[in-house]
Amino acid sequence: MHPVLEPYVFKRGSLSVRNRTVLAAMTNKQSHDNGVLSEDEIAWLEARSEGGFGIITTAATHVEEDGQGWEGEFGTWSDEHLEGLTQLATTIHQHGGVGLAQLFHGGMRAPERLTGLQPKSASENELGNGLGQSRAMTSAEIDQTIRAFGLAAKRCEEAGFQGVELHGAHGYLIAQFLGASTNRRNDEWGGNQRKRTRFLEEIVREVRRSTGPNFLVGVRLSPVLPTCDLDLDDALETLHLCNEMELDFVHVSCWDINETGAYNGVEKPYTTHFRDVLVDGIPLISTGGVWNADDAQLAHDQGADFVGVARAGIAHPDWPTYLAAGSSEPSRPPFDEATLQKAKLNSTFIDYMRRWNGFVSD
Ligand SMILES: Cc1cc2nc3c(=O)[nH]c(=O)nc-3n(C[C@H](O)[C@H](O)[C@H](O)COP(=O)(O)O)c2cc1C
Repeated sequence: MHPVLEPYVFKRGSLSVRNRTVLAAMTNKQSHDNGVLSEDEIAWLEARSEGGFGIITTAATHVEEDGQGWEGEFGTWSDEHLEGLTQLATTIHQHGGVGLAQLFHGGMRAPERLTGLQPKSASENELGNGLGQSRAMTSAEIDQTIRAFGLAAKRCEEAGFQGVELHGAHGYLIAQFLGASTNRRNDEWGGNQRKRTRFLEEIVREVRRSTGPNFLVGVRLSPVLPTCDLDLDDALETLHLCNEMELDFVHVSCWDINETGAYNGVEKPYTTHFRDVLVDGIPLISTGGVWNADDAQLAHDQGADFVGVARAGIAHPDWPTYLAAGSSEPSRPPFDEATLQKAKLNSTFIDYMRRWNGFVSD
């Protein structure tokens, strides 16, 4: 059997997952302006649970109203969101998948055109495109945002999700705190990498405090993030600190699992560096450029305990079936509109995918 089709049992709550495939978080813009989940977004994720993914991660969902990064992004900041969240978690569970909500705050990347407010971040940072600057959060605001992560996680647990993934990758608020250029604070939230990691650490602590003993809590990190001036040394120092946090998994977002970097003078794939630093008890998810069974095998051989896909899972809701012996290769982009509609993308999501070079054929 393909190693990624083997089941996995988390220590926490002895929660078992039917295989080690993960649908990685994907913003899909299909929900309502007030943050309420739409039937379309629920149907899109339902199809991936029905299709056999072990873990189904939702799109990044903002934990505070002013944290919204994209149009049509669902929220977890109000009890008004509970009904939709419950419907989503229930349906993922009914089809046998483990549902994780990806919690985030956009920070300086939560645009004023969506929130009506000047974006907040660790420091005053240039937003680019003539959009001015973010403002630096006060200590009280930092505490409030940490509490919001806890409340959002609690809502997700109440709704029936098995856990949350805290989005510390790709340059959103947590990553803005982790990066030296976006976090130039000289109070207890900034200074060196250890201090820049404190925001994440406190969020993990608060989420743990707010949820029950069987609720999974993990973190997604980028191995390098030039926009925040975070290099591999910084990422791995944060990962060392993650070993001390009460985490159930870490997810490294490679974009391309073939990419390598040097740490302590040794060049290795990012996944391998992450696996080497992470303590044995914490499983690692790795995502980036995996399309077929050989790619999944490579990620596994590099040290991934779980293998994530995003784009392959858009066209192939049943992507895990392509890992079984003797199965054919999953077809590759471009995909026509009819194929994407059949795969449960609505017209807004299909339009969004037109921005991903060569994905949609017209
Ligand atoms: C349409 C789309 C939306 C995405 N939205 C998110 C997101 O909300 N959160 C996140 O952490 N990553 C997001 N990503 C990144 C993916 O999770 C993944 O890391 C990336 O696409 C590389 O994996 P792949 O080569 O399998 O597509 C998104 C990717 C795509 C294609």
